[in-house]
Amino acid sequence: MKKLNLSGIILTLVMILTIPCGCKRTDVTENPRTISFDQGWRFFKGDPSGAEKPVFDDSKWRNIDLPHDWSIEDLPDQKEDSVVGPFSRKSVCKMGTGNTVGGTGWYRKSFIIGKADKNKKAFIQFDGVYMNSDIWINGKHVGNHPYGYTSFWYDITPFLNPVTTANTIAVQVKNEGLNARWYSGSGIYRHTWLTLVNPVHIAPWGVYITTPSVSEKNAGIDIVSNITNSDKKESHITYRVKLTDPSGAQAGSASMESIVPAGKSVELKLSVTIDNPALWSVDKPNLYQAEAEVLVNNKAADKSTTSFGIRTIHFDPQSGLTINGKTIKLKGGCFHHDNGPLGSAAIDRAEERKIELLKKAGFNAIRCSHNPPSPMLLDVCDRLGILVIDEAFDMWEKSKMAMMQMMFNPAGNKNITADDYSKFFKEWWQRDIQSMVTRDRNHPSVIMWSIGNEIMEAADTSGLRIATNLTKEVRKFDPTRAVTEAHVDMGAALGMKSTWEERAPHIALLDVVGLNYAYAIYREDHKKHPERIMYASEFMPPKSLENWQAVESLPYVIGNFSWTAMDYLGEAGTGLPRLVNISPAGTGSNQADQMMQFFNMDSWPVFINFQGDLDIIGNPKVPYYYQHVVWREHKMAMFVHRPIPAGKKEITSPWGFPDELKNWNWEGHEGEMMQVHVYTRSKLVKLELNGKPVGEQTVDDSKSITAAFKLAYEPGTLTARSFDNGMETASETIKTVGKPAAVRLSADRSTIRADRNDLSYVMVEIVDNDGNVIPYADNILVNFEISGNGEIAGVGSGSPSDMSSFQKPYKKTWQGRCLAIVRPKGEAGKIVLTAKAEGLKEAVAEIVTN
Ligand code: GAL
Repeated sequence: MKKLNLSGIILTLVMILTIPCGCKRTDVTENPRTISFDQGWRFFKGDPSGAEKPVFDDSKWRNIDLPHDWSIEDLPDQKEDSVVGPFSRKSVCKMGTGNTVGGTGWYRKSFIIGKADKNKKAFIQFDGVYMNSDIWINGKHVGNHPYGYTSFWYDITPFLNPVTTANTIAVQVKNEGLNARWYSGSGIYRHTWLTLVNPVHIAPWGVYITTPSVSEKNAGIDIVSNITNSDKKESHITYRVKLTDPSGAQAGSASMESIVPAGKSVELKLSVTIDNPALWSVDKPNLYQAEAEVLVNNKAADKSTTSFGIRTIHFDPQSGLTINGKTIKLKGGCFHHDNGPLGSAAIDRAEERKIELLKKAGFNAIRCSHNPPSPMLLDVCDRLGILVIDEAFDMWEKSKMAMMQMMFNPAGNKNITADDYSKFFKEWWQRDIQSMVTRDRNHPSVIMWSIGNEIMEAADTSGLRIATNLTKEVRKFDPTRAVTEAHVDMGAALGMKSTWEERAPHIALLDVVGLNYAYAIYREDHKKHPERIMYASEFMPPKSLENWQAVESLPYVIGNFSWTAMDYLGEAGTGLPRLVNISPAGTGSNQADQMMQFFNMDSWPVFINFQGDLDIIGNPKVPYYYQHVVWREHKMAMFVHRPIPAGKKEITSPWGFPDELKNWNWEGHEGEMMQVHVYTRSKLVKLELNGKPVGEQTVDDSKSITAAFKLAYEPGTLTARSFDNGMETASETIKTVGKPAAVRLSADRSTIRADRNDLSYVMVEIVDNDGNVIPYADNILVNFEISGNGEIAGVGSGSPSDMSSFQKPYKKTWQGRCLAIVRPKGEAGKIVLTAKAEGLKEAVAEIVTN
């Protein structure tokens, strides 16, 4: 990472001058005009009066660096079973935010602009603040930004003190009321940036790169820059661009002269042709760089580097989605923005690891549900080759949960998301959609803009009006990608009156329609609307076979997105199987009642959704294996159901699998009948226990990929074999493992950057004497000690209900595993992490920082 030249900027207090911005942000790192503004803040949870004033005494406030999320921190006054770690029974949004707490908080910091930057313009950018922030500089109000997920920037030049004099920035963040139906986090949870530029400069988000003509032989690239002259006299400028190819070699250049009138902005376009372009695709995510430069009287005035890719995207009902002329089916996953044990803090490595895990898990596309992601996340998708649906909103003018309330609890009189973004939509939608599109339109990974998810007013005239405005606004800023929206007809899904046809004029405004949970209507829908291009913007993981069959067989269905790719905090328990009394019946009588059992506002102690292919620390769960067999990427997956206690029965969520695991250690259950599931696309499955055949099942994968067995438990070795035409296609063994003997640590990376934005994820496993992970090892307390140049940024397990601190140096295991996330303090050197558990051999992991 290159060090930035900060000669002109002196940042006071604990700000260390040579700290680099610490991340690979393609739009800023090569631009020394923009530096990280993350270090050296003070934070206070509460709402003291006068905190916006420069004279306010913040010396007792906590020192923190951004990104920061206070909702993941331990609450004061811990009390067994009511205030545990960050969880509280008094949580306003309850299961919505996973029993975590919002509130109001303040951030302050002091900074000085140095002499060398006299007369410069200063912009400050926030990548994301949850939510409703107000910003003051030197006691003067700069602006308010309600939406918690869009980036925003201010020209702070008029608010600054003369150079070399201290300035104070104060930020009030208000995460109040019933505003969230999943974990949002609270505070300045993404990066902040300070940009200093000359009066003649390229505006923030002012470079827009398109590739109007692309073939294997050559590609035409347009680079449009918004050049602003904030001087009092007109300026004669040279605008030039230099392109470099993925290897760093020059790939073309162009320049032009122009005049920018005083106090005005102009948009200038340069076109460059590149021969034999290295195209961007999911398999070969080739990235080019464009350096846009402005010279005034032949002297460099401003320079900005932007990463881009050369690719075509095309959608039609005959060939679906084609990228560079080839049809691709989207193996998609939806996810929320949180980083599990780190809460919403968008530390670069956390964002990168999440995408690495999803790519490794077989996804080629993600849907950022239901809001724009961090800029870093899109950089990673560009780099690793993951396609993105960038989504703006979860609600428009009508508050979200009014729908659920009406449908499932008509007698309930409380709107459980009464304070959500719908309160601000009318005044803010235009600025927020513009923020998403202008910030993200250079990312080759982004293929669709989504204007909403399951919008309440989708079927009425107000929905039509709003969708008309939104689609127009998106296309104004980027006509090169598809506009989409995720529609649902819960009524239809539950056998009530359908509104699909009432929505037809609304759907006609979209290039591609997202249909949540509606694979059953594709064929009929296509007959009525042959021009429609569609995809499952959400599907329930147990229905992945049916959904994928539709994707494979119907050309106008371009893919599907599972709800969800990874577990998230909040919407607690929606995918978790539960045990109920056999009698009286624990389940409701109709489908709606049954579904509603998984949307119980009082979810304590559950805080995770549990619908994910991966758990919150990144380990695969049942739906991951099932999905891989559906995709034909694994031949087989076997699971054993946990024995169900007498008098109880299990009910599974429509989004979730039964409570089954890869475990053949059921001491005390000898002789009891166990249920075993083998998922396979082969035609025959045979099961053996300790070498003896115990069952045989045929499978017809056009209908189901599940072979179900019942057999009496005895310890030993359980083996499943699959066959096609008499030939063995795969086998899997689950065996009884030994007793817990040792702790094992494995760091995902043992050399990391000496940088606050890097992390090492250290997986903890409880193993027997032969090194087998012990799948039943729940609740083994692991204590961590750390020394050297690092600290523990978070600890976690996949458990949906182990309510405990994410920040203390200990965690209990779940299914044999837990995780410690190690963060460098900033200096080069070594970090030593030791993990100890009572009665077990301890383990040590060494991580080098450089
Ligand atoms: C969908 C919704 C998601 C999530 C899911 C249930 O209908 O779009 O955001 O709430 O249901 O977990």
